[in-house]
Amino acid sequence: MIYSNEQTGYIREGGRILYKFVMPEVIFGKGSIDQAGDGCARLGAQRVLVVSDDGVQAAGWTGRVMESCLSAGLSVSLFTGVSINPTSEEVEACAGQYIQDSCDAVLGVGGGSVLDVAKAAAILATNGGHIRDYEGIDHIHRPLPPLVMVTTTAGSGSDVSQFAIILDPERKKKMTIVSKSLVPDISIVDPAVLSTKSARLTASTGLDVLTHAIESYVSIASTPLTDVHAKSSIQLCAKYLRESVASADNQYAKEQMAIASLHAGLAFSNAILGAVHAIAHSIGGHYPFLHGDINAVMLPHVMKFNASAAPGRFKDIAHLLGENTDGLSSSEASDLAIAHVERLAVDIGAPLTLTGMGFKAESIPIISEISLEDACMITNPRMITADEVAALLYQAL
Ligand SMILES: [Fe+2]
Repeated sequence: MIYSNEQTGYIREGGRILYKFVMPEVIFGKGSIDQAGDGCARLGAQRVLVVSDDGVQAAGWTGRVMESCLSAGLSVSLFTGVSINPTSEEVEACAGQYIQDSCDAVLGVGGGSVLDVAKAAAILATNGGHIRDYEGIDHIHRPLPPLVMVTTTAGSGSDVSQFAIILDPERKKKMTIVSKSLVPDISIVDPAVLSTKSARLTASTGLDVLTHAIESYVSIASTPLTDVHAKSSIQLCAKYLRESVASADNQYAKEQMAIASLHAGLAFSNAILGAVHAIAHSIGGHYPFLHGDINAVMLPHVMKFNASAAPGRFKDIAHLLGENTDGLSSSEASDLAIAHVERLAVDIGAPLTLTGMGFKAESIPIISEISLEDACMITNPRMITADEVAALLYQAL
Protein backbone atom coordinates (compact mmCIF):
# COMPACT_ATOMS: atom_id res chain seq x y z
CA MET A 1 0.00 0.00 0.00
CA ILE A 2 1.39 3.40 -0.92
CA TYR A 3 0.17 6.69 0.44
CA SER A 4 0.73 8.97 -2.50
CA ASN A 5 -0.22 12.25 -0.92
CA GLU A 6 2.25 14.88 -2.02
CA GLN A 7 2.90 15.84 1.60
CA THR A 8 4.63 12.61 2.56
CA GLY A 9 7.95 11.20 1.47
CA TYR A 10 6.47 9.31 -1.46
CA ILE A 11 5.65 10.89 -4.78
CA ARG A 12 4.16 8.87 -7.63
CA GLU A 13 5.14 10.16 -11.02
CA GLY A 14 4.58 8.30 -14.27
CA GLY A 15 4.66 4.93 -12.54
CA ARG A 16 7.88 5.76 -10.69
CA ILE A 17 8.15 6.27 -6.97
CA LEU A 18 10.34 9.17 -5.89
CA TYR A 19 11.39 10.02 -2.36
CA LYS A 20 11.62 13.50 -0.96
CA PHE A 21 12.79 14.81 2.38
CA VAL A 22 12.55 18.26 3.94
CA MET A 23 14.56 19.66 6.82
CA PRO A 24 15.85 22.98 8.14
CA GLU A 25 19.42 24.15 8.59
CA VAL A 26 20.39 22.55 11.92
CA ILE A 27 22.88 24.07 14.36
CA PHE A 28 23.71 21.52 17.07
CA GLY A 29 26.02 21.72 20.08
CA LYS A 30 26.70 23.34 23.42
CA GLY A 31 26.51 27.11 23.09
CA SER A 32 24.55 26.98 19.84
CA ILE A 33 21.72 28.94 21.51
CA ASP A 34 23.88 32.04 21.09
CA GLN A 35 23.63 31.62 17.30
CA ALA A 36 19.92 32.55 17.36
CA GLY A 37 20.35 36.26 16.66
CA ASP A 38 22.93 35.70 13.95
CA GLY A 39 20.58 33.16 12.35
CA CYS A 40 17.75 35.71 12.22
CA ALA A 41 20.10 38.36 10.80
CA ARG A 42 21.30 35.97 8.08
CA LEU A 43 17.65 35.52 7.08
CA GLY A 44 17.26 39.28 6.63
CA ALA A 45 15.43 40.06 9.87
CA GLN A 46 15.52 43.47 11.52
CA ARG A 47 12.79 43.21 14.18
CA VAL A 48 12.27 39.76 15.65
CA LEU A 49 9.23 38.45 17.51
CA VAL A 50 10.64 36.20 20.25
CA VAL A 51 8.04 33.62 21.35
CA SER A 52 8.59 31.86 24.67
CA ASP A 53 6.89 31.03 27.98
CA ASP A 54 7.32 31.97 31.63
CA GLY A 55 9.18 28.77 32.61
CA VAL A 56 11.76 29.10 29.84
CA GLN A 57 12.14 32.78 30.63
CA ALA A 58 12.69 32.01 34.33
CA ALA A 59 15.37 29.48 33.35
CA GLY A 60 17.20 32.30 31.56
CA TRP A 61 17.07 30.93 28.00
CA THR A 62 14.68 33.57 26.65
CA GLY A 63 16.96 36.36 27.84
CA ARG A 64 19.92 34.58 26.28
CA VAL A 65 18.38 34.52 22.79
CA MET A 66 17.19 38.12 23.14
CA GLU A 67 20.76 39.14 23.98
CA SER A 68 21.99 37.30 20.90
CA CYS A 69 19.49 39.24 18.78
CA LEU A 70 20.61 42.57 20.24
CA SER A 71 24.25 41.59 19.67
CA ALA A 72 23.39 40.91 16.04
CA GLY A 73 21.98 44.44 15.71
CA LEU A 74 18.32 43.38 15.75
CA SER A 75 15.45 44.77 17.79
CA VAL A 76 13.06 42.38 19.54
CA SER A 77 9.47 42.08 20.72
CA LEU A 78 8.78 39.40 23.37
CA PHE A 79 5.62 37.25 23.59
CA THR A 80 5.37 34.76 26.49
CA GLY A 81 1.63 33.97 26.58
CA VAL A 82 1.91 30.23 25.78
CA SER A 83 0.32 27.42 27.85
CA ILE A 84 1.22 23.69 27.82
CA ASN A 85 -1.64 22.86 25.43
CA PRO A 86 -1.67 26.08 23.39
CA THR A 87 -4.90 27.44 21.97
CA SER A 88 -6.04 29.33 18.90
CA GLU A 89 -6.52 32.43 21.11
CA GLU A 90 -2.85 32.33 22.10
CA VAL A 91 -1.90 32.07 18.43
CA GLU A 92 -4.07 35.06 17.55
CA ALA A 93 -2.58 37.13 20.36
CA CYS A 94 0.93 36.20 19.23
CA ALA A 95 0.21 37.01 15.57
CA GLY A 96 -1.44 40.29 16.64
CA GLN A 97 1.72 41.31 18.46
CA TYR A 98 3.84 40.41 15.41
CA ILE A 99 1.76 42.72 13.23
CA GLN A 100 1.40 45.52 15.80
CA ASP A 101 5.15 45.64 16.42
CA SER A 102 5.99 45.45 12.69
CA CYS A 103 8.13 42.33 13.13
CA ASP A 104 9.75 40.57 10.18
CA ALA A 105 10.88 37.23 11.65
CA VAL A 106 9.77 34.75 14.34
CA LEU A 107 12.17 33.23 16.84
CA GLY A 108 10.71 30.51 19.08
CA VAL A 109 12.56 29.44 22.24
CA GLY A 110 10.87 26.72 24.27
CA GLY A 111 9.29 23.28 24.13
CA GLY A 112 6.85 22.00 21.55
CA SER A 113 4.00 24.21 22.78
CA VAL A 114 6.01 27.40 22.33
CA LEU A 115 7.40 26.39 18.95
CA ASP A 116 3.94 25.38 17.68
CA VAL A 117 2.51 28.77 18.67
CA ALA A 118 5.47 30.52 17.01
CA LYS A 119 4.89 28.59 13.78
CA ALA A 120 1.10 29.01 13.86
CA ALA A 121 1.40 32.75 14.53
CA ALA A 122 3.74 32.99 11.54
CA ILE A 123 0.96 31.48 9.40
CA LEU A 124 -1.52 34.16 10.45
CA ALA A 125 1.08 36.93 10.15
CA THR A 126 1.32 36.52 6.37
CA ASN A 127 -1.78 34.50 5.45
CA GLY A 128 -4.44 36.09 7.70
CA GLY A 129 -7.72 34.42 8.63
CA HIS A 130 -8.25 32.04 11.56
CA ILE A 131 -5.82 29.27 12.45
CA ARG A 132 -8.70 26.80 11.95
CA ASP A 133 -8.53 27.62 8.20
CA TYR A 134 -5.18 25.83 8.01
CA GLU A 135 -6.08 22.57 9.77
CA GLY A 136 -5.10 19.47 7.82
CA ILE A 137 -2.59 19.08 5.02
CA ASP A 138 -1.32 21.84 2.73
CA HIS A 139 -3.66 24.77 3.28
CA ILE A 140 -0.98 27.48 3.57
CA HIS A 141 -0.58 29.40 0.33
CA ARG A 142 1.64 32.41 1.10
CA PRO A 143 5.25 32.27 2.30
CA LEU A 144 5.86 32.57 6.05
CA PRO A 145 8.28 35.00 7.71
CA PRO A 146 11.76 33.64 8.48
CA LEU A 147 11.47 31.04 11.27
CA VAL A 148 14.24 30.23 13.74
CA MET A 149 13.46 27.66 16.44
CA VAL A 150 15.45 26.92 19.62
CA THR A 151 14.22 23.75 21.33
CA THR A 152 14.45 23.53 25.11
CA THR A 153 12.90 20.10 25.58
CA ALA A 154 14.33 17.85 22.85
CA GLY A 155 11.07 16.01 22.46
CA SER A 156 8.42 17.52 20.27
CA GLY A 157 10.41 17.65 17.03
CA SER A 158 8.58 20.89 16.25
CA ASP A 159 11.95 22.60 15.70
CA VAL A 160 12.49 20.54 12.53
CA SER A 161 9.02 19.35 11.53
CA GLN A 162 6.32 20.50 9.12
CA PHE A 163 3.73 20.16 11.92
CA ALA A 164 2.02 22.52 14.35
CA ILE A 165 -0.56 21.28 16.87
CA ILE A 166 -3.00 23.87 18.23
CA LEU A 167 -6.06 23.40 20.46
CA ASP A 168 -9.39 24.75 19.20
CA PRO A 169 -11.21 25.33 22.53
CA GLU A 170 -14.61 25.72 20.86
CA ARG A 171 -14.49 22.25 19.35
CA LYS A 172 -12.29 20.80 22.13
CA LYS A 173 -10.07 19.55 19.35
CA LYS A 174 -6.34 19.63 18.79
CA MET A 175 -5.83 20.69 15.19
CA THR A 176 -2.99 19.09 13.27
CA ILE A 177 -1.60 21.57 10.75
CA VAL A 178 0.80 20.08 8.20
CA SER A 179 2.65 22.09 5.56
CA LYS A 180 6.18 22.35 4.22
CA SER A 181 5.87 26.07 4.95
CA LEU A 182 6.11 25.15 8.64
CA VAL A 183 9.58 23.62 8.34
CA PRO A 184 11.71 26.23 10.15
CA ASP A 185 14.57 27.91 8.32
CA ILE A 186 16.96 27.23 11.19
CA SER A 187 16.69 24.76 14.09
CA ILE A 188 19.03 25.29 17.04
CA VAL A 189 19.58 22.35 19.40
CA ASP A 190 21.76 23.16 22.40
CA PRO A 191 22.11 20.17 24.75
CA ALA A 192 23.23 22.45 27.58
CA VAL A 193 19.73 23.93 27.62
CA LEU A 194 18.29 20.54 28.56
CA SER A 195 19.95 20.59 31.99
CA THR A 196 17.14 22.79 33.34
CA LYS A 197 14.47 20.27 32.37
CA SER A 198 12.86 18.36 35.26
CA ALA A 199 13.12 14.56 35.44
CA ARG A 200 9.34 14.41 35.01
CA LEU A 201 9.45 16.42 31.77
CA THR A 202 12.54 14.53 30.56
CA ALA A 203 10.63 11.25 30.91
CA SER A 204 7.51 12.56 29.20
CA THR A 205 9.29 14.18 26.26
CA GLY A 206 11.66 11.20 25.96
CA LEU A 207 8.76 8.82 25.44
CA ASP A 208 7.33 11.28 22.93
CA VAL A 209 10.62 10.95 21.03
CA LEU A 210 10.45 7.14 21.12
CA THR A 211 6.85 7.27 19.91
CA HIS A 212 7.83 9.55 17.02
CA ALA A 213 10.59 7.14 16.05
CA ILE A 214 8.47 3.97 16.24
CA GLU A 215 5.41 5.47 14.54
CA SER A 216 7.44 6.94 11.68
CA TYR A 217 9.31 3.63 11.23
CA VAL A 218 6.07 1.67 10.78
CA SER A 219 4.26 4.48 8.92
CA ILE A 220 3.01 3.58 5.47
CA ALA A 221 4.76 6.74 4.24
CA SER A 222 8.19 5.74 5.57
CA THR A 223 11.05 5.75 3.05
CA PRO A 224 14.72 4.74 3.18
CA LEU A 225 15.45 8.42 3.85
CA THR A 226 13.25 8.47 6.96
CA ASP A 227 14.13 4.95 8.14
CA VAL A 228 17.74 5.81 8.87
CA HIS A 229 16.66 8.56 11.25
CA ALA A 230 13.90 6.53 12.91
CA LYS A 231 16.24 3.60 13.55
CA SER A 232 18.98 5.77 15.05
CA SER A 233 16.46 7.41 17.32
CA ILE A 234 15.05 4.10 18.62
CA GLN A 235 18.56 2.88 19.46
CA LEU A 236 19.50 6.11 21.24
CA CYS A 237 16.27 6.17 23.29
CA ALA A 238 16.85 2.59 24.45
CA LYS A 239 20.41 3.39 25.48
CA TYR A 240 20.12 6.86 27.01
CA LEU A 241 16.57 7.73 28.10
CA ARG A 242 16.87 6.05 31.50
CA GLU A 243 20.18 7.79 32.27
CA SER A 244 18.89 11.11 31.02
CA VAL A 245 15.91 10.93 33.42
CA ALA A 246 17.98 9.63 36.35
CA SER A 247 20.47 12.50 36.46
CA ALA A 248 20.12 16.18 35.59
CA ASP A 249 23.93 16.35 35.45
CA ASN A 250 24.45 13.55 32.93
CA GLN A 251 25.27 15.82 30.01
CA TYR A 252 26.33 12.97 27.75
CA ALA A 253 22.97 11.18 28.11
CA LYS A 254 21.11 14.46 27.54
CA GLU A 255 23.15 15.17 24.43
CA GLN A 256 22.36 11.69 23.08
CA MET A 257 18.64 12.24 23.75
CA ALA A 258 18.85 15.60 21.97
CA ILE A 259 20.26 13.73 18.95
CA ALA A 260 17.53 11.10 19.32
CA SER A 261 14.90 13.84 19.30
CA LEU A 262 16.43 15.44 16.21
CA HIS A 263 16.49 12.11 14.35
CA ALA A 264 12.91 11.31 15.34
CA GLY A 265 11.75 14.79 14.32
CA LEU A 266 13.31 14.41 10.87
CA ALA A 267 11.76 10.95 10.50
CA PHE A 268 8.21 11.86 11.48
CA SER A 269 8.21 15.21 9.72
CA ASN A 270 8.62 13.31 6.45
CA ALA A 271 6.93 9.94 7.18
CA ILE A 272 4.14 11.36 9.41
CA LEU A 273 2.96 9.39 12.46
CA GLY A 274 0.16 7.00 13.39
CA ALA A 275 -2.63 6.02 15.75
CA VAL A 276 -0.79 6.85 18.99
CA HIS A 277 -0.51 10.49 17.98
CA ALA A 278 -4.00 10.65 16.47
CA ILE A 279 -5.39 9.39 19.79
CA ALA A 280 -3.05 11.59 21.87
CA HIS A 281 -4.13 14.71 19.97
CA SER A 282 -7.78 13.81 20.55
CA ILE A 283 -7.33 13.17 24.27
CA GLY A 284 -5.28 16.37 24.51
CA GLY A 285 -8.24 18.32 23.17
CA HIS A 286 -10.32 17.23 26.16
CA TYR A 287 -7.80 16.89 28.98
CA PRO A 288 -4.81 19.05 30.03
CA PHE A 289 -2.40 16.09 30.10
CA LEU A 290 1.21 16.21 28.94
CA HIS A 291 1.36 15.00 25.35
CA GLY A 292 4.25 12.63 26.10
CA ASP A 293 2.36 11.06 29.02
CA ILE A 294 -0.57 10.12 26.77
CA ASN A 295 1.84 8.61 24.25
CA ALA A 296 3.57 6.66 27.02
CA VAL A 297 0.29 5.00 27.96
CA MET A 298 -1.03 4.40 24.45
CA LEU A 299 2.17 3.28 22.69
CA PRO A 300 2.27 -0.39 23.79
CA HIS A 301 -1.46 -0.86 23.14
CA VAL A 302 -1.19 0.56 19.62
CA MET A 303 1.97 -1.48 18.96
CA LYS A 304 0.02 -4.66 19.83
CA PHE A 305 -2.75 -3.59 17.44
CA ASN A 306 -0.34 -2.71 14.61
CA ALA A 307 2.14 -5.57 14.94
CA SER A 308 0.46 -7.91 12.47
CA ALA A 309 0.38 -5.17 9.79
CA ALA A 310 4.15 -4.65 9.70
CA PRO A 311 5.74 -7.77 11.25
CA GLY A 312 9.22 -7.27 9.82
CA ARG A 313 9.30 -3.69 11.02
CA PHE A 314 8.32 -4.64 14.56
CA LYS A 315 11.01 -7.32 14.60
CA ASP A 316 13.50 -4.61 13.57
CA ILE A 317 12.25 -2.43 16.43
CA ALA A 318 12.88 -5.21 18.96
CA HIS A 319 16.42 -5.55 17.65
CA LEU A 320 16.99 -1.77 17.69
CA LEU A 321 15.81 -1.65 21.30
CA GLY A 322 18.57 -4.12 22.14
CA GLU A 323 16.57 -7.36 22.32
CA ASN A 324 18.02 -10.61 21.03
CA THR A 325 15.72 -11.60 18.18
CA ASP A 326 17.82 -14.47 16.79
CA GLY A 327 15.60 -17.37 15.79
CA LEU A 328 12.41 -15.60 16.81
CA SER A 329 9.34 -15.26 14.64
CA SER A 330 8.17 -11.73 13.85
CA SER A 331 5.32 -12.18 16.29
CA GLU A 332 7.63 -13.28 19.12
CA ALA A 333 10.00 -10.39 18.38
CA SER A 334 7.09 -7.91 18.34
CA ASP A 335 6.08 -9.13 21.80
CA LEU A 336 9.62 -8.45 23.01
CA ALA A 337 9.51 -4.92 21.56
CA ILE A 338 6.20 -4.22 23.28
CA ALA A 339 7.41 -5.61 26.63
CA HIS A 340 10.58 -3.49 26.30
CA VAL A 341 8.57 -0.30 25.80
CA GLU A 342 6.36 -1.17 28.79
CA ARG A 343 9.43 -1.77 31.00
CA LEU A 344 11.02 1.49 29.89
CA ALA A 345 7.91 3.46 30.88
CA VAL A 346 7.94 1.81 34.33
CA ASP A 347 11.67 2.43 34.82
CA ILE A 348 11.42 6.18 34.16
CA GLY A 349 8.24 6.69 36.18
CA ALA A 350 5.90 7.52 33.29
CA PRO A 351 2.12 7.19 33.77
CA LEU A 352 0.94 3.67 32.95
CA THR A 353 -2.84 4.12 32.69
CA LEU A 354 -5.22 6.77 31.42
CA THR A 355 -7.28 6.55 34.62
CA GLY A 356 -4.17 7.33 36.64
CA MET A 357 -3.91 10.64 34.78
CA GLY A 358 -7.56 11.53 35.39
CA PHE A 359 -9.13 10.28 32.16
CA LYS A 360 -12.83 9.31 32.35
CA ALA A 361 -14.25 6.34 30.46
CA GLU A 362 -17.30 8.36 29.38
CA SER A 363 -15.02 10.33 27.03
CA ILE A 364 -14.17 7.24 25.00
CA PRO A 365 -16.91 7.50 22.31
CA ILE A 366 -16.14 11.12 21.41
CA ILE A 367 -12.34 10.62 21.62
CA SER A 368 -12.64 7.59 19.33
CA GLU A 369 -14.59 9.52 16.70
CA ILE A 370 -12.28 12.55 16.74
CA SER A 371 -9.16 10.35 16.52
CA LEU A 372 -10.23 9.06 13.13
CA GLU A 373 -10.25 12.61 11.71
CA ASP A 374 -6.64 13.34 12.72
CA ALA A 375 -4.11 13.64 9.88
CA CYS A 376 -1.76 11.25 11.72
CA MET A 377 -4.25 8.39 11.39
CA ILE A 378 -3.81 8.32 7.61
CA THR A 379 -0.33 6.80 7.82
CA ASN A 380 -1.02 4.21 10.55
CA PRO A 381 0.07 0.82 9.15
CA ARG A 382 -3.25 -0.86 9.96
CA MET A 383 -6.70 0.48 9.11
CA ILE A 384 -8.63 1.22 12.28
CA THR A 385 -12.28 1.86 13.11
CA ALA A 386 -13.80 3.97 15.87
CA ASP A 387 -14.77 0.77 17.70
CA GLU A 388 -11.17 -0.44 17.56
CA VAL A 389 -9.88 2.91 18.90
CA ALA A 390 -12.44 2.61 21.69
CA ALA A 391 -11.20 -0.90 22.49
CA LEU A 392 -7.61 0.40 22.71
CA LEU A 393 -8.74 3.17 25.06
CA TYR A 394 -10.57 0.68 27.31
CA GLN A 395 -7.42 -1.45 27.44
CA ALA A 396 -5.43 1.64 28.43
CA LEU A 397 -7.78 2.64 31.28
FE1 LIG B 1 4.57 13.79 19.71
